[in-house]
Amino acid sequence: MPSLTWPSKQQPETLSAHLHTEAYLFPHGKGAFSAEEKIENRLILGDNLRVMAALLPEYEGKIDLIYADPPFFSNQRYRARVGRGEDSRQPEEWELAKGYQDKWDNLDEYLDMLYPRLILMHRLLSPTGTFYLHLDWHANAYARILLDEIFGYERLNNEIIWTYHGPSPIRSAFNRKHDTILFYTKGKEYTFNVDDVRIPYADSTVNTFQSSKKAGFGKKPNLKRGKVPEDWWYFPVVARLHSERTGYPTQKPESLLERIITASSNKGDIVADFFAGSGTTATVAARLGRRFIVSDAQWRAIHTTRSRFVQNVLLGEEGGEESPPARLKLQREGEVPPQVRQSRGDAVELRGKTLVLNPNLADELDYWEADPNWQPDSGDSIFRSVVQAARPRRKGKIATELELPFVGENICVRLVNVNGDKLETVLGNR
Ligand SMILES: C[S@@+](CC[C@H](N)C(=O)[O-])C[C@H]1O[C@@H](n2cnc3c(N)ncnc32)[C@H](O)[C@@H]1O
Repeated sequence: MPSLTWPSKQQPETLSAHLHTEAYLFPHGKGAFSAEEKIENRLILGDNLRVMAALLPEYEGKIDLIYADPPFFSNQRYRARVGRGEDSRQPEEWELAKGYQDKWDNLDEYLDMLYPRLILMHRLLSPTGTFYLHLDWHANAYARILLDEIFGYERLNNEIIWTYHGPSPIRSAFNRKHDTILFYTKGKEYTFNVDDVRIPYADSTVNTFQSSKKAGFGKKPNLKRGKVPEDWWYFPVVARLHSERTGYPTQKPESLLERIITASSNKGDIVADFFAGSGTTATVAARLGRRFIVSDAQWRAIHTTRSRFVQNVLLGEEGGEESPPARLKLQREGEVPPQVRQSRGDAVELRGKTLVLNPNLADELDYWEADPNWQPDSGDSIFRSVVQAARPRRKGKIATELELPFVGENICVRLVNVNGDKLETVLGNR
């Protein structure tokens, strides 16, 4: 079997990495006071090589589905759009902030990043688990050979082509408008819910079969049941006017993740994404009643995922009736504590059980949340976020009042402004 080598190719070293729990997030209080203590969903800040190393003792061979959408070797620096109405055409209403980098000295350096991570993802997958790697023409051919080495050539199920439209400055070649998603399984047995992802036949096919008995040489498909999708998919990219748009760069459409998660996992399964970005995988997994573990090296990605999660729970988009409330454990790999500054004294006021935001701050804030019974000296000093408000993704203002379920001795309020500054204020109830 041919294999890919380059001078610095290495197996991953054994890392001693640890995850520190910083907060529990109970969106809109859901599940905050239930007897069920274990929180399965995780949102982790950190380099995924170390994050995965830290997860191995608990999760090796346990994850049912991993979707990976790493940097593509595109030699670009991607910026996030933040602020009010980031999707508007008026640049004065939004600004650019750090997104993430996809810059490399050469292909060797890129493969040095990708290869050990692919190996760790393979180790984390359950024996019946499935892996999707999303790339494009820049590095897809090299990744395919690496995956054949790690998973086995015979474990490649599909090379999926995701096509889309959009403007392009290219005048010396055809417009590059597809990505490639490689779909591997760890073993011969795996989940593939074929009937859940069927799509309607094209009108022309239906008409042909309805008008002629001889069509299909007498073999008539079940037109009502629909067909199994081909291995080329069309979903529009997340554009300026789409309500799911977050402003985080290279965000993938929820419809794409919906097909992948529906096909390759069942309710209650664990779905992971270690290049989480804006949190598309977490959002869709929660909506479909799956548990999830997602991580990213950028704080902005973690923050976007958290806000998106809170907004979707408010819209009732998570889990469905029979699923437990989708609660989150926020973790960080490494020792560096989060940089939180004291917010101005008049940022928030407590009136009875209602927290009232200073109206002058409403336009500056991206997100705010509160722990009604903050106990910083209790040993774990974990922030329990029980009420939250996030700036609406499209029109509208951030909520300026949050109703606490009860009022403890100390109430801790955390705020994030549109520049990403983290501010805190502690209110005493005396
Ligand atoms: C293509 S984007 C993912 C977009 C995502 N699928 C979405 O729908 O928003 C790639 C992400 O990988 C993250 N990333 C790159 N290298 C990483 C690393 N070593 N550890 C963790 N995250 C990393 C970047 O910060 C970026 O958010």
